[in-house]
Amino acid sequence: MNNKNYKWWHHATIYEIYPKSFSGSHNGAWGNLQGVIAKLPYLSHLGIDVLWLCPVFASPFKDSGYDVSDYKMINDDFGTIEDLEALIAKAHELKMKIILDMVINHTSDEHPWFVSACQSVDSPYRDYYIFRDQKEGQCPNNWVSSKTLSSVWTYNPLIGDYYLHIYTKHQPDLNWENQHLREEIYDMLRGWLNKGVDGFRLDVINKLAKKSGLPDYKGDDQHPYADSFFENNDKVHEYIREMHKKVFDDYPEALIMGQTGGITTQQAYEYVHPSRHELNLYLQFEHMDIDKGYEGRIQGWTISDLYNSVMKWQLLLAQGLWPTVFFGSHDSARMVARYGDVSKAYHSLSAKMLCVLQLCLAGTQIIYMGDELGLCNVEYEHIDDFTDIRSHDTYRSRRNKGESRASILKDLREVARDNARVQIPWSLAEDMIEDDVSIYNFYRKMIQFRKASTVLLTGQIIILNLDNTHLFAYKRKNGHVIITVIANMSSEEVTLTLDDYGVLVIDNYEESNDGLLKAYEVKVFRFEG
Ligand code: GLC
Repeated sequence: MNNKNYKWWHHATIYEIYPKSFSGSHNGAWGNLQGVIAKLPYLSHLGIDVLWLCPVFASPFKDSGYDVSDYKMINDDFGTIEDLEALIAKAHELKMKIILDMVINHTSDEHPWFVSACQSVDSPYRDYYIFRDQKEGQCPNNWVSSKTLSSVWTYNPLIGDYYLHIYTKHQPDLNWENQHLREEIYDMLRGWLNKGVDGFRLDVINKLAKKSGLPDYKGDDQHPYADSFFENNDKVHEYIREMHKKVFDDYPEALIMGQTGGITTQQAYEYVHPSRHELNLYLQFEHMDIDKGYEGRIQGWTISDLYNSVMKWQLLLAQGLWPTVFFGSHDSARMVARYGDVSKAYHSLSAKMLCVLQLCLAGTQIIYMGDELGLCNVEYEHIDDFTDIRSHDTYRSRRNKGESRASILKDLREVARDNARVQIPWSLAEDMIEDDVSIYNFYRKMIQFRKASTVLLTGQIIILNLDNTHLFAYKRKNGHVIITVIANMSSEEVTLTLDDYGVLVIDNYEESNDGLLKAYEVKVFRFEG
């Protein structure tokens, strides 16, 4: 890619905010938009270029705002449209952009369209959703979703039929085959772009089209979930291309970042290759699911599993597929708890090691709020401590199959989304800002380092196999300059004969020994040939 083909988002560091737990302007349990405004100087100081706000629209909040009841209104708990306008204006003053999380695969079951559609077959909104008659007293088909571990159908007693929802029953799927619905969505997206937002993160966008005819899924005990029938179907590309033409052609600077879980590398091309006029960035989760097994159970993983997964996607850069890099999100447990070590001795070191490992990779970077403070998982004891609906769905389903409370809770403590959704401890942030060697200041310096490095921003990625199962190592190369990153992802010391990698430019230990990587040590070298 030559310079003139880069857009503003290629080299951006995005910061994901889950607004409910970020910052409040008053002492309530909820964060809000004024609270985000108050923290703009903090984010600017950290070096953030773009804020991604998880959904802020009117919502009964059954799935944390991913159940929208009015796309044109802000959730009362977050503030008003004027607050969002003020946030956009203030962020722009500080040279930061704002992208909104748009959930257009489904709405809330309290959305007036759905309420009306349930009431009468003559409702003008009836065909905005996917209703089907029962089949021999049963659900219209046998699809079970891996997200809820239950049927995708719920009975609508007002008419005696069923509606489809691949997430919870509070999130009925929209029928993208309906052109009026599509036009309403496009209109709404244009409305937000006209207010000055800089783009969108499009929630589960690869699920808009369901398998034609909604046939039964022929799974087996190992593969009971029908997800493949409602993701990446051909028609989804038609819808996204139409959306691009009718909305984004008029806003060529807007970022369209699509959440596309479960895609293959070939499918990623289909979503983001510029010639296709679909999305700009894809979000894939292979490395994020590395520790998650069947039904949310913890599964073992190795550093080479993680390495191979990350590198598989990074290497596609050589073929023009720009990566999006993240290790934390509102949908996962805390990054340092998963890939690092939260013991007192190694917490800070491993958080810094992960920071380097992430920020030296190629692609658009996303930092999840609080990871710059090294936040860890929560220590919930009882299922009632968890608030996320997915934690409860998982718990209920596995209890129904006879699994013990203790065993389910053990997994939830490690994988639950609740882990990433607790309030940001701002007093910790204040302390860290003052502390030169804090995780926060390390992130800040790494973000600056990345911004100033053409190699990190534009260089190719090269695999570095050091034949040691504790190491995660790679190189970046641009012309004559090579940056080498060697991270020890374990608590064991690793001795190795280092090649002439050049000058040591970053180390998370204050004192570094040649030929030795201490526990969770990361070294970055720069070579100019
Ligand atoms: C996406 C969101 C997740 C939400 C789901 C349903 O995966 O990231 O938080 O539960 O979509 O909207």
